Amino acid sequence: MKKIYLNTMGCQMNVYDSRRILDALEKLGYVETLNPEEADFLMINTCYIREKASDKVFSMLGKFAKIKADRKKQGLPTYIGLAGCVVQALGDEVFHKAPFLDLAVGPQSYHKLPELLTRLDRGAGRTVEANFTSDEKFDLLPKANARAYSAFLAIQEGCDNFCTYCVVPYTRGCEYSRSADEIIKEAKSLVDTGAVEIMLLGQNVDCWHGKGLNGQKEWGLARLIEELAKIDNLKRIRYTTSYPVDITDEMIKAHRDIEKLMPYIHLPIQSGSDAVLKAMNRRYTVKQYLEVIDKLRAVRPDIAISSDFIVGFPGETDADFEQTMDVVRRVDYAQSYSFKYSARPGTPASLMKNQIPEKIKADRLTTLQALLLERQKAFNMKFIGKTLPVLLTEKGRAKGQLNGYSPYLQNVHATLSDDYLGKIVDLKITSATASSLSGTINVL
Ligand code: 5AD
Ligand code: SF4
Repeated sequence: MKKIYLNTMGCQMNVYDSRRILDALEKLGYVETLNPEEADFLMINTCYIREKASDKVFSMLGKFAKIKADRKKQGLPTYIGLAGCVVQALGDEVFHKAPFLDLAVGPQSYHKLPELLTRLDRGAGRTVEANFTSDEKFDLLPKANARAYSAFLAIQEGCDNFCTYCVVPYTRGCEYSRSADEIIKEAKSLVDTGAVEIMLLGQNVDCWHGKGLNGQKEWGLARLIEELAKIDNLKRIRYTTSYPVDITDEMIKAHRDIEKLMPYIHLPIQSGSDAVLKAMNRRYTVKQYLEVIDKLRAVRPDIAISSDFIVGFPGETDADFEQTMDVVRRVDYAQSYSFKYSARPGTPASLMKNQIPEKIKADRLTTLQALLLERQKAFNMKFIGKTLPVLLTEKGRAKGQLNGYSPYLQNVHATLSDDYLGKIVDLKITSATASSLSGTINVL
C-alpha cells in the first residue's frame, strides 16, 4: 500500500477533481494520508486565479522538496506532482521553476495520472500532460466515491465569458457540459457511497445543457435538477456558480417548486458600478442584477444570496467603489467572497493602463469586508430562536461536537453524538456569529 498526500488549493471544482484523483489512484494501491512526511507521492492541486494563490504553490513545493530529500536519506523513494490550473497556465515552465518535480498534469488530464505514475515507476522520466478536452477526462475517471456526506459533482467545466480579469477560460478551456445520463449515473454512485447532499459544479453552471434521458430533446439545468431530485436517498441539491443574467425562468421556477433544491444561490456581482462591469466585460448592469434577485425573492422570499466581489479593478474610482458598497447595503448578502484585483498574465485587464495602487486596493477591501461581515452577522442573528434542519457533515474541532449546514448554507455547530453524522436533524439555534450558528436538538 502506498500513500498519497494531496493538498488542494482554489475552488470547489478543484476539491471535486482532487476527490476523483484519489479515486483514480486507489486503483494503483494509493491511500490518502494527511501527513506529508509519510507520503510516497506528494501532490498539490493548484489554483492560478490570483497571484497569491499561485505563489503559495511554489513555497509549498519547496517544503515537499525537503521532505523528498529527507526520505531519500532513509532510502524511501518519493514522487512530487503538480496538478491543476498552474500546470495548464505554465506548461513545461513548472519544471524550470521546480526542477525536483516528477510529473505535472493539467485539469483536463487527471485520467492520465495512473499511466504517468506507472511510467515513473519504470524510470521513463518526467512529463507534463496538459490538453484541453474535458470529455475524455470524465469518461475515463473511475466510478465516483462520495468521500463526504455533501458531495461535489462537476456537470460543466470551462467558460466562454472571457471576463477581462479572469484566467479560467485559459486554464479550464471553453464551456463543456457533461451528458445528463453520465451526471445522473454519477449522482447515484455518490448517493450509494454515502452522499446525502450534492453540490452541482460548473464555472458557469446555468449554461449547462445536454441531451435529455432516453433521447429527449435538450435539457437545461432546471430539468436536470428535477430529475436528480427523484433519487430517493438524495436529500439536498445545490449548484454553483451562477452567471447573473444566465439564470432562466425555469431555474427561478425550480427554486419555487423543487423542495430538495436548497434556498441558496451564489450570484457574483463583482462590482456595483456599471462602468466597471463594462470594463470587466460582464454582460449585465447593476439594475439587471438586482432584477434577478427580485425574481428569485418573489418565488422564494427566504433565499440566501452570496456573491464574489473584486475591488481595485483597473480604473475603479472612489465613486465606483461606493456603488459596490451600496449594492451590499441593498442586497443583504448571507455570504460573500471578496478579493483585491490581481493582474493575471495574458488577460486583457492586466494590460489596462489605469491599474490601482496596492494601498487603495487594500483599504477598499478592508472597508468592503467590514460591511459584508456586519451584514452577514445580522443575517445569521435573525435565526436565533428558530429551528433549522441541519445536515450534519463532519466532526467538529471540540470533542463531542458536530458541524453541519442549514438550508441557507450557514455553518452550524452542535453538541451531538457521532450517530447523527450524515443525518438531517432539526436544531434550535441558540447563538450566532458572522461565520456560524450554534444549535441544540429541539426538545419539545
Ligand atoms: N483578481 C481578483 N479576483 C479574481 N477573481 C477571478 N479573477 C480574479 C482576479 N484576476 C475572483 C472573482 C471570481 C472568483 C472565483 O475569483 O470574484 O468570481
Ligand atoms: Fe482557481 Fe479558477 Fe482554476 Fe478554480 S478554475 S482552481 S478558481 S484558476
